[in-house]
Amino acid sequence: MESVLFKGPWVAGVGEADVGVRDGRIALVGRAEAGDRYDRIIEADGCALIPGLVNCHGHAAMTLFRGIADDLPLRRWLEEKIWPLEAKLTAECVYWGSMLAMAEMIRGGTTTFTDMYFFEEETARAAEEAGMRAVLSRGLAVGPNLHNALRENRQLAEEWHQRGDGRITVQLGPHALYTCPPRQLEPILDLAAELDLALQIHVAETKEEVEESIARYGKSPVAVLEETGLFQFPVLAAHCVHVSEEDIGILARNKVHVSHNPVSNLKLGSGIAPVPQMLAAGMIVGLGTDGASSNNNLDMFLEMRMAALIHKGIANDPTLVPAGLALEMATSLGAKALFLEDVGSIEEGMKADITLIDLNQVHLSPRHDPCAAIAYAAKASDVTLVMADGRILLEEGRLTTIDEERTIYEAQRCLRALQEQL
Ligand code: NI
Repeated sequence: MESVLFKGPWVAGVGEADVGVRDGRIALVGRAEAGDRYDRIIEADGCALIPGLVNCHGHAAMTLFRGIADDLPLRRWLEEKIWPLEAKLTAECVYWGSMLAMAEMIRGGTTTFTDMYFFEEETARAAEEAGMRAVLSRGLAVGPNLHNALRENRQLAEEWHQRGDGRITVQLGPHALYTCPPRQLEPILDLAAELDLALQIHVAETKEEVEESIARYGKSPVAVLEETGLFQFPVLAAHCVHVSEEDIGILARNKVHVSHNPVSNLKLGSGIAPVPQMLAAGMIVGLGTDGASSNNNLDMFLEMRMAALIHKGIANDPTLVPAGLALEMATSLGAKALFLEDVGSIEEGMKADITLIDLNQVHLSPRHDPCAAIAYAAKASDVTLVMADGRILLEEGRLTTIDEERTIYEAQRCLRALQEQL
Protein backbone atom coordinates (compact mmCIF):
# COMPACT_ATOMS: atom_id res chain seq x y z
CA MET A 1 0.00 0.00 0.00
CA GLU A 2 1.18 3.49 -0.93
CA SER A 3 2.69 5.58 1.89
CA VAL A 4 1.52 9.20 1.93
CA LEU A 5 2.73 12.33 3.70
CA PHE A 6 0.31 15.23 4.16
CA LYS A 7 2.50 18.30 4.50
CA GLY A 8 1.51 21.19 6.71
CA PRO A 9 -2.24 21.05 7.28
CA TRP A 10 -4.05 22.19 10.41
CA VAL A 11 -4.78 18.89 12.16
CA ALA A 12 -7.89 18.48 14.29
CA GLY A 13 -6.96 18.05 17.94
CA VAL A 14 -3.29 18.81 17.22
CA GLY A 15 -2.69 22.09 15.34
CA GLU A 16 -0.17 22.62 12.51
CA ALA A 17 1.54 19.28 11.77
CA ASP A 18 2.55 16.83 9.07
CA VAL A 19 0.64 13.56 8.95
CA GLY A 20 2.26 10.42 7.56
CA VAL A 21 0.38 7.29 6.54
CA ARG A 22 1.97 3.85 6.17
CA ASP A 23 0.32 0.45 5.71
CA GLY A 24 -3.14 1.89 6.17
CA ARG A 25 -2.37 3.50 9.53
CA ILE A 26 -1.32 6.91 10.75
CA ALA A 27 2.44 6.58 11.28
CA LEU A 28 3.37 10.18 12.05
CA VAL A 29 1.72 13.24 13.53
CA GLY A 30 4.32 15.98 13.92
CA ARG A 31 7.22 17.19 11.83
CA ALA A 32 8.46 14.96 9.02
CA GLU A 33 12.26 14.67 8.92
CA ALA A 34 14.10 15.46 5.70
CA GLY A 35 15.17 11.81 5.36
CA ASP A 36 11.65 10.33 5.77
CA ARG A 37 10.65 8.48 2.61
CA TYR A 38 7.06 8.44 1.38
CA ASP A 39 5.66 7.25 -1.97
CA ARG A 40 3.62 10.45 -2.21
CA ILE A 41 3.75 13.88 -0.68
CA ILE A 42 0.51 15.87 -0.68
CA GLU A 43 0.92 19.58 -0.04
CA ALA A 44 -1.87 20.32 2.45
CA ASP A 45 -0.92 23.81 3.54
CA GLY A 46 -4.14 25.83 3.91
CA CYS A 47 -6.18 22.68 4.49
CA ALA A 48 -7.77 21.21 7.58
CA LEU A 49 -7.03 17.52 8.11
CA ILE A 50 -9.70 15.86 10.22
CA PRO A 51 -10.65 12.25 10.98
CA GLY A 52 -12.98 10.85 8.32
CA LEU A 53 -16.53 11.75 9.35
CA VAL A 54 -18.60 9.00 11.00
CA ASN A 55 -22.27 8.74 10.12
CA CYS A 56 -23.90 6.91 13.04
CA HIS A 57 -27.36 6.25 11.66
CA GLY A 58 -28.81 5.59 8.26
CA HIS A 59 -30.45 3.44 5.66
CA ALA A 60 -28.13 3.87 2.69
CA ALA A 61 -30.33 2.44 -0.06
CA MET A 62 -33.10 4.89 0.86
CA THR A 63 -31.30 7.37 -1.39
CA LEU A 64 -33.63 5.79 -3.96
CA PHE A 65 -36.54 7.43 -2.13
CA ARG A 66 -34.96 10.86 -1.86
CA GLY A 67 -37.67 13.49 -2.30
CA ILE A 68 -40.39 10.93 -2.85
CA ALA A 69 -42.38 11.47 0.32
CA ASP A 70 -41.77 14.80 1.94
CA ASP A 71 -43.68 16.86 4.50
CA LEU A 72 -45.54 13.96 6.17
CA PRO A 73 -45.60 12.71 9.78
CA LEU A 74 -43.42 9.64 10.48
CA ARG A 75 -46.20 7.01 10.66
CA ARG A 76 -47.98 8.22 7.49
CA TRP A 77 -44.63 8.67 5.76
CA LEU A 78 -43.78 5.03 6.58
CA GLU A 79 -47.17 3.42 6.07
CA GLU A 80 -48.37 5.25 2.96
CA LYS A 81 -45.18 6.00 1.08
CA ILE A 82 -42.12 4.10 2.19
CA TRP A 83 -43.36 0.63 3.18
CA PRO A 84 -45.24 0.00 -0.13
CA LEU A 85 -42.07 0.84 -2.09
CA GLU A 86 -39.86 -1.18 0.24
CA ALA A 87 -42.14 -4.19 -0.23
CA LYS A 88 -41.03 -4.23 -3.90
CA LEU A 89 -37.29 -3.74 -3.27
CA THR A 90 -34.83 -6.07 -4.96
CA ALA A 91 -31.21 -6.88 -4.20
CA GLU A 92 -30.20 -4.85 -7.24
CA CYS A 93 -32.08 -1.77 -5.99
CA VAL A 94 -30.34 -1.99 -2.63
CA TYR A 95 -26.93 -2.36 -4.25
CA TRP A 96 -27.32 0.73 -6.45
CA GLY A 97 -29.09 2.75 -3.77
CA SER A 98 -26.25 1.95 -1.37
CA MET A 99 -23.62 2.82 -3.98
CA LEU A 100 -25.34 6.15 -4.60
CA ALA A 101 -25.29 6.83 -0.84
CA MET A 102 -21.60 5.98 -0.65
CA ALA A 103 -20.72 8.28 -3.54
CA GLU A 104 -22.51 11.10 -1.72
CA MET A 105 -20.97 10.25 1.66
CA ILE A 106 -17.41 10.06 0.32
CA ARG A 107 -17.85 13.36 -1.50
CA GLY A 108 -18.92 14.86 1.83
CA GLY A 109 -15.89 13.56 3.76
CA THR A 110 -17.58 10.58 5.43
CA THR A 111 -15.45 7.43 5.73
CA THR A 112 -17.61 5.36 8.10
CA PHE A 113 -21.35 4.80 7.99
CA THR A 114 -23.93 2.71 9.80
CA ASP A 115 -26.78 0.93 8.14
CA MET A 116 -29.96 -0.96 8.94
CA TYR A 117 -31.91 -2.27 5.98
CA PHE A 118 -32.94 -5.17 3.73
CA PHE A 119 -30.68 -7.15 1.36
CA GLU A 120 -27.89 -5.90 3.61
CA GLU A 121 -25.32 -8.16 1.93
CA GLU A 122 -25.68 -5.89 -1.10
CA THR A 123 -24.77 -2.87 1.03
CA ALA A 124 -21.82 -4.87 2.37
CA ARG A 125 -20.70 -5.70 -1.17
CA ALA A 126 -21.02 -2.06 -2.23
CA ALA A 127 -19.05 -0.92 0.85
CA GLU A 128 -16.31 -3.42 0.14
CA GLU A 129 -16.05 -2.14 -3.45
CA ALA A 130 -16.30 1.54 -2.50
CA GLY A 131 -13.64 1.17 0.20
CA MET A 132 -15.74 2.63 3.00
CA ARG A 133 -15.86 1.48 6.61
CA ALA A 134 -19.34 0.18 7.43
CA VAL A 135 -21.30 -1.04 10.44
CA LEU A 136 -24.19 -3.04 9.02
CA SER A 137 -27.33 -4.70 10.27
CA ARG A 138 -30.35 -6.41 8.76
CA GLY A 139 -33.49 -4.54 9.88
CA LEU A 140 -35.58 -6.86 12.08
CA ALA A 141 -39.30 -6.33 12.63
CA VAL A 142 -42.05 -8.54 13.98
CA GLY A 143 -44.24 -10.36 11.47
CA PRO A 144 -44.17 -13.51 9.40
CA ASN A 145 -40.73 -12.54 8.11
CA LEU A 146 -38.95 -12.14 11.45
CA HIS A 147 -37.60 -15.69 11.35
CA ASN A 148 -36.17 -15.20 7.84
CA ALA A 149 -34.85 -11.77 8.67
CA LEU A 150 -33.03 -13.19 11.70
CA ARG A 151 -31.54 -15.91 9.53
CA GLU A 152 -30.39 -13.23 7.08
CA ASN A 153 -28.81 -11.18 9.86
CA ARG A 154 -26.99 -14.33 11.03
CA GLN A 155 -25.79 -15.01 7.47
CA LEU A 156 -24.68 -11.41 7.12
CA ALA A 157 -22.60 -11.78 10.29
CA GLU A 158 -21.12 -15.11 9.24
CA GLU A 159 -20.22 -13.89 5.77
CA TRP A 160 -19.29 -10.26 6.34
CA HIS A 161 -18.25 -9.55 9.95
CA GLN A 162 -14.67 -8.20 9.91
CA ARG A 163 -14.34 -8.61 6.14
CA GLY A 164 -12.81 -6.04 3.77
CA ASP A 165 -9.60 -5.94 5.88
CA GLY A 166 -11.76 -5.45 8.97
CA ARG A 167 -13.62 -2.47 7.50
CA ILE A 168 -17.00 -4.18 7.77
CA THR A 169 -18.63 -4.82 11.13
CA VAL A 170 -21.98 -6.55 11.50
CA GLN A 171 -24.52 -5.77 14.20
CA LEU A 172 -28.07 -6.99 14.80
CA GLY A 173 -30.81 -4.55 13.89
CA PRO A 174 -34.09 -4.81 15.80
CA HIS A 175 -35.94 -1.91 14.17
CA ALA A 176 -37.69 -0.42 17.24
CA LEU A 177 -39.78 -1.43 20.25
CA TYR A 178 -43.00 -0.67 18.35
CA THR A 179 -42.03 -3.04 15.54
CA CYS A 180 -40.20 -5.55 17.78
CA PRO A 181 -42.10 -6.04 21.06
CA PRO A 182 -40.35 -7.65 24.07
CA ARG A 183 -41.29 -11.27 23.22
CA GLN A 184 -39.89 -10.87 19.71
CA LEU A 185 -36.70 -9.36 21.04
CA GLU A 186 -35.85 -12.60 22.87
CA PRO A 187 -34.56 -14.61 19.88
CA ILE A 188 -32.68 -11.52 18.69
CA LEU A 189 -30.88 -11.20 22.04
CA ASP A 190 -30.13 -14.93 22.01
CA LEU A 191 -28.47 -14.49 18.61
CA ALA A 192 -26.53 -11.43 19.82
CA ALA A 193 -25.19 -13.52 22.70
CA GLU A 194 -24.35 -16.46 20.45
CA LEU A 195 -22.53 -14.38 17.82
CA ASP A 196 -21.16 -11.78 20.26
CA LEU A 197 -22.58 -8.85 18.30
CA ALA A 198 -23.66 -5.34 19.21
CA LEU A 199 -27.16 -4.12 18.33
CA GLN A 200 -28.67 -0.98 16.87
CA ILE A 201 -32.28 0.10 17.37
CA HIS A 202 -34.49 3.18 16.92
CA VAL A 203 -35.55 4.48 20.35
CA ALA A 204 -38.10 7.14 21.36
CA GLU A 205 -38.06 8.86 17.98
CA THR A 206 -41.54 10.38 18.31
CA LYS A 207 -43.89 11.45 21.08
CA GLU A 208 -46.50 8.95 19.78
CA GLU A 209 -44.02 6.11 20.21
CA VAL A 210 -43.57 6.99 23.87
CA GLU A 211 -47.33 7.48 24.49
CA GLU A 212 -48.07 4.13 22.87
CA SER A 213 -45.46 2.40 25.01
CA ILE A 214 -46.88 3.93 28.18
CA ALA A 215 -50.42 2.93 27.18
CA ARG A 216 -49.31 -0.62 26.39
CA TYR A 217 -46.64 -1.37 29.00
CA GLY A 218 -47.09 1.42 31.54
CA LYS A 219 -43.52 2.49 30.87
CA SER A 220 -41.38 4.45 28.43
CA PRO A 221 -39.68 2.57 25.57
CA VAL A 222 -36.32 3.00 27.32
CA ALA A 223 -37.64 1.44 30.54
CA VAL A 224 -39.27 -1.45 28.63
CA LEU A 225 -36.10 -2.10 26.64
CA GLU A 226 -34.05 -2.17 29.83
CA GLU A 227 -36.36 -4.88 31.21
CA THR A 228 -35.91 -7.03 28.13
CA GLY A 229 -32.18 -7.27 28.84
CA LEU A 230 -31.27 -5.48 25.60
CA PHE A 231 -29.00 -3.05 27.39
CA GLN A 232 -26.82 -5.83 28.73
CA PHE A 233 -25.39 -5.87 25.20
CA PRO A 234 -23.50 -3.06 23.49
CA VAL A 235 -26.31 -0.96 21.99
CA LEU A 236 -26.43 1.99 19.63
CA ALA A 237 -29.79 3.74 20.06
CA ALA A 238 -30.84 6.00 17.22
CA HIS A 239 -32.72 9.25 17.94
CA CYS A 240 -33.68 9.21 21.67
CA VAL A 241 -35.67 12.38 21.05
CA HIS A 242 -38.37 11.87 23.68
CA VAL A 243 -36.44 10.64 26.69
CA SER A 244 -37.13 11.74 30.27
CA GLU A 245 -34.52 12.40 32.93
CA GLU A 246 -35.15 8.89 34.22
CA ASP A 247 -34.68 7.48 30.72
CA ILE A 248 -31.35 9.31 30.40
CA GLY A 249 -30.36 7.80 33.77
CA ILE A 250 -31.17 4.31 32.47
CA LEU A 251 -29.31 4.88 29.20
CA ALA A 252 -26.25 6.34 30.96
CA ARG A 253 -26.15 3.59 33.60
CA ASN A 254 -26.26 0.93 30.88
CA LYS A 255 -23.68 2.73 28.71
CA VAL A 256 -26.06 2.84 25.76
CA HIS A 257 -24.63 4.92 22.90
CA VAL A 258 -26.80 7.34 20.95
CA SER A 259 -26.95 8.58 17.39
CA HIS A 260 -28.29 12.13 17.31
CA ASN A 261 -29.93 12.82 13.94
CA PRO A 262 -31.02 16.45 14.11
CA VAL A 263 -31.97 17.03 10.47
CA SER A 264 -34.14 13.92 10.16
CA ASN A 265 -35.82 14.68 13.50
CA LEU A 266 -36.56 18.23 12.37
CA LYS A 267 -37.80 17.23 8.92
CA LEU A 268 -40.18 14.60 10.29
CA GLY A 269 -41.33 17.03 12.97
CA SER A 270 -40.26 14.56 15.63
CA GLY A 271 -38.63 17.07 17.96
CA ILE A 272 -35.17 17.77 19.34
CA ALA A 273 -33.24 15.23 21.40
CA PRO A 274 -31.95 16.44 24.81
CA VAL A 275 -28.35 15.98 23.72
CA PRO A 276 -26.71 18.42 26.19
CA GLN A 277 -28.38 16.48 29.02
CA MET A 278 -27.19 13.14 27.62
CA LEU A 279 -23.64 14.45 27.28
CA ALA A 280 -23.79 15.87 30.81
CA ALA A 281 -24.78 12.39 32.00
CA GLY A 282 -21.54 11.08 30.46
CA MET A 283 -23.15 9.39 27.48
CA ILE A 284 -21.44 8.81 24.14
CA VAL A 285 -23.39 10.65 21.42
CA GLY A 286 -22.50 10.56 17.73
CA LEU A 287 -24.22 12.18 14.75
CA GLY A 288 -26.19 10.58 11.95
CA THR A 289 -28.06 11.60 8.85
CA ASP A 290 -30.70 8.85 8.86
CA GLY A 291 -31.93 7.79 5.39
CA ALA A 292 -31.98 10.21 2.47
CA SER A 293 -35.77 10.10 2.34
CA SER A 294 -36.07 11.83 5.72
CA ASN A 295 -33.24 14.33 5.41
CA ASN A 296 -32.85 14.60 2.21
CA ASN A 297 -29.09 14.27 2.03
CA LEU A 298 -26.21 12.48 3.72
CA ASP A 299 -24.22 15.61 4.51
CA MET A 300 -22.46 15.34 7.88
CA PHE A 301 -21.41 19.01 7.74
CA LEU A 302 -25.08 19.93 7.91
CA GLU A 303 -25.59 17.55 10.88
CA MET A 304 -22.64 19.15 12.67
CA ARG A 305 -24.04 22.61 12.11
CA MET A 306 -27.55 21.62 13.18
CA ALA A 307 -26.23 19.89 16.30
CA ALA A 308 -24.23 23.01 17.13
CA LEU A 309 -27.19 25.35 16.52
CA ILE A 310 -30.49 23.82 17.62
CA HIS A 311 -29.57 23.15 21.25
CA LYS A 312 -28.43 26.75 21.64
CA GLY A 313 -31.72 27.88 20.11
CA ILE A 314 -34.16 25.90 22.22
CA ALA A 315 -32.30 26.48 25.49
CA ASN A 316 -31.48 30.16 24.81
CA ASP A 317 -27.90 29.25 25.62
CA PRO A 318 -25.17 29.95 23.03
CA THR A 319 -22.58 28.04 25.08
CA LEU A 320 -24.21 24.66 24.39
CA VAL A 321 -22.60 22.24 21.88
CA PRO A 322 -19.62 24.41 20.90
CA ALA A 323 -17.92 23.94 17.52
CA GLY A 324 -15.22 21.60 18.85
CA LEU A 325 -17.81 19.32 20.43
CA ALA A 326 -19.87 19.21 17.23
CA LEU A 327 -16.74 18.13 15.34
CA GLU A 328 -15.99 15.48 17.97
CA MET A 329 -19.54 14.15 17.71
CA ALA A 330 -18.99 13.76 13.97
CA THR A 331 -15.62 12.02 14.43
CA SER A 332 -14.19 10.59 17.67
CA LEU A 333 -17.47 10.33 19.59
CA GLY A 334 -19.13 8.86 16.50
CA ALA A 335 -16.46 6.16 16.23
CA LYS A 336 -16.91 5.35 19.94
CA ALA A 337 -20.69 5.28 19.48
CA LEU A 338 -20.18 2.55 16.89
CA PHE A 339 -17.80 0.63 19.19
CA LEU A 340 -14.92 1.17 16.76
CA GLU A 341 -11.61 1.44 18.56
CA ASP A 342 -8.97 2.47 16.07
CA VAL A 343 -10.70 5.18 14.03
CA GLY A 344 -12.07 8.64 14.82
CA SER A 345 -8.93 10.59 15.69
CA ILE A 346 -5.65 11.64 14.11
CA GLU A 347 -3.11 9.83 16.27
CA GLU A 348 -0.19 7.57 15.51
CA GLY A 349 -1.34 3.96 15.28
CA MET A 350 -4.94 4.76 14.34
CA LYS A 351 -6.40 3.55 11.04
CA ALA A 352 -5.80 6.14 8.31
CA ASP A 353 -9.37 7.45 7.84
CA ILE A 354 -8.72 11.04 6.81
CA THR A 355 -10.68 13.94 5.33
CA LEU A 356 -8.99 17.00 3.91
CA ILE A 357 -10.92 20.28 3.76
CA ASP A 358 -9.75 23.20 1.64
CA LEU A 359 -9.92 26.24 3.93
CA ASN A 360 -8.81 28.52 1.14
CA GLN A 361 -12.34 29.57 0.18
CA VAL A 362 -14.16 32.87 0.42
CA HIS A 363 -16.71 31.53 2.90
CA LEU A 364 -13.94 30.20 5.17
CA SER A 365 -11.69 33.27 5.02
CA PRO A 366 -9.84 34.80 6.69
CA ARG A 367 -8.38 31.81 8.48
CA HIS A 368 -8.60 32.02 12.25
CA ASP A 369 -10.26 29.10 14.04
CA PRO A 370 -10.46 26.06 11.73
CA CYS A 371 -12.74 24.24 14.16
CA ALA A 372 -15.35 27.00 14.00
CA ALA A 373 -14.91 27.20 10.22
CA ILE A 374 -15.68 23.49 9.91
CA ALA A 375 -18.67 23.41 12.26
CA TYR A 376 -20.31 26.69 11.24
CA ALA A 377 -19.26 27.54 7.70
CA ALA A 378 -17.75 24.61 5.76
CA LYS A 379 -19.71 22.58 3.22
CA ALA A 380 -19.44 19.03 1.98
CA SER A 381 -18.18 20.45 -1.31
CA ASP A 382 -15.10 21.90 0.46
CA VAL A 383 -13.77 18.35 0.92
CA THR A 384 -10.85 17.83 -1.45
CA LEU A 385 -9.50 14.44 -0.44
CA VAL A 386 -10.86 11.43 1.42
CA MET A 387 -8.86 8.44 2.59
CA ALA A 388 -10.24 5.34 4.30
CA ASP A 389 -8.02 2.59 5.67
CA GLY A 390 -5.06 4.26 3.94
CA ARG A 391 -6.69 4.23 0.49
CA ILE A 392 -7.66 7.42 -1.32
CA LEU A 393 -11.37 7.38 -2.24
CA LEU A 394 -11.70 10.99 -3.45
CA GLU A 395 -9.07 13.24 -4.94
CA GLU A 396 -9.22 16.36 -7.09
CA GLY A 397 -12.98 16.12 -7.37
CA ARG A 398 -12.94 12.50 -8.56
CA LEU A 399 -14.18 9.39 -6.82
CA THR A 400 -11.55 6.72 -7.29
CA THR A 401 -13.61 3.64 -6.41
CA ILE A 402 -17.10 4.45 -7.69
CA ASP A 403 -18.33 5.00 -11.26
CA GLU A 404 -20.48 7.98 -10.41
CA GLU A 405 -22.24 8.44 -13.74
CA ARG A 406 -23.26 4.80 -13.93
CA THR A 407 -24.39 4.81 -10.28
CA ILE A 408 -26.72 7.76 -10.91
CA TYR A 409 -28.10 6.08 -14.03
CA GLU A 410 -28.70 2.71 -12.32
CA ALA A 411 -30.32 4.29 -9.25
CA GLN A 412 -32.73 6.19 -11.52
CA ARG A 413 -33.51 2.98 -13.40
CA CYS A 414 -34.15 1.07 -10.13
CA LEU A 415 -36.50 3.77 -8.82
CA ARG A 416 -38.48 3.78 -12.06
CA ALA A 417 -38.83 -0.02 -11.95
CA LEU A 418 -40.11 0.16 -8.35
CA GLN A 419 -42.62 2.90 -9.14
CA GLU A 420 -43.98 0.98 -12.12
CA GLN A 421 -44.99 -1.84 -9.79
CA LEU A 422 -47.13 0.29 -7.48
NI1 NI B 1 -33.68 5.31 10.92
